[in-house]
Amino acid sequence: MFTPDLLKGKKILVTGGGTGLGKSMGRRFLELGAELVICGRRQNVVEETAWELMSAFPGPVTWHACDIRDPAQVEAMIEKIWADGPLDVLLNNAAGNFIARSETLSPRAVDSVLGIVLHGSAYATLACGRRWLAAKRKATVLSIVTTYAWTGSGYVVPSAMAKAGVLAMTRSLAVEWGGRGIRLNAIAPGPFPTPGAWERLMPRADIAKDYESRVPLGRVGEHIELANLASYLLSDQAGYINGECVTIDGGAWLKGGGQFNFLDRLTDADWDAIKPKKQG
Ligand code: HXC
Ligand code: NAP
Repeated sequence: MFTPDLLKGKKILVTGGGTGLGKSMGRRFLELGAELVICGRRQNVVEETAWELMSAFPGPVTWHACDIRDPAQVEAMIEKIWADGPLDVLLNNAAGNFIARSETLSPRAVDSVLGIVLHGSAYATLACGRRWLAAKRKATVLSIVTTYAWTGSGYVVPSAMAKAGVLAMTRSLAVEWGGRGIRLNAIAPGPFPTPGAWERLMPRADIAKDYESRVPLGRVGEHIELANLASYLLSDQAGYINGECVTIDGGAWLKGGGQFNFLDRLTDADWDAIKPKKQG
């Protein structure tokens, strides 16, 4: 399936594409023949990434400094991109997050995360969507959420609220726009270490170790695994997948959910000791 031309002819915008998972996915899209556009707030970061990727792959990479919390900046960026030719894919990947006890959050702290994840994804999706619909153009939106979009999670409440909203947007627009040629899907990754996430969410080594040890497959995700899933979902090979959220977490969220999963701490001797004894 991953032929070198899988994404040939596709122009893809990755928000937050200058770092972390966005950069890894962008690299894979280029390798598979796509034309890449990346954005982020820091001009120097997106520019450096674009040059780095262009030195490795033939596909063109353009970049925009854009704060997706500001609808005017999003509209101006999308207008500029369209002036060079329409996008085929939007990847809502940019995010903001940090751990905190919820009762300590200021209104600005709540707004900063909701603004990036929920509002920013909505502004970008609507700006692209209205252009695609007006031109009757087939297109795809893929959004990166996470598994607490449906389980919720303490200590990252604004992020959980925002990711749940992005998932609701995905499912809602998949139905509203599906008949007009636009597919919307989401990916819910588990742990994929990046400096941006680990600095803010794993401030101590023991927290990172606890978090990572809860994965049934016994390891964190590799960026290429996520990048391949994203490539598939936005390619024409996935043309009948619409309104879906694919989890890629080594089974981690199910482990948190199953009521008896904590029994993995029992040893063989424990199991022998609690086994019912034969009568008589
Ligand atoms: C409490 C905090 C805080 C923290 C910031 N704030 N960090 N409050 N605990 N750790 C508060 C500030 O005090 C301020 O409120 C308000 O939030 C805004 O902070 P600023 O620093 O002024 O905001 P800004 O520069 O816009 O930065 C936004 C940000 C920052 C979200 C706070 O972390 C950021 O830029 N993040 C982008 C990258 C990122 O987060 N990547 C990780 C994504 S990982 P006051 O009231 O004091 O002014 C991810 C993984 C999900 O999403 C799933 C994992 C499995
Ligand atoms: P990251 O490297 O910190 O990526 C976040 C990106 O978003 C940065 O490039 C950042 O660039 C950009 N961004 C933030 N605010 C923005 C804004 N207002 N406007 C435009 N761009 C903005 O973290 P990551 O780990 O790769 O996360 C990528 C995605 O994966 C996120 O959606 C995250 O929720 C999701 N995810 C990650 C994990 C994981 O384990 N890493 C797990 C589940 C889900 P600037 O700061 O320059 O703006």
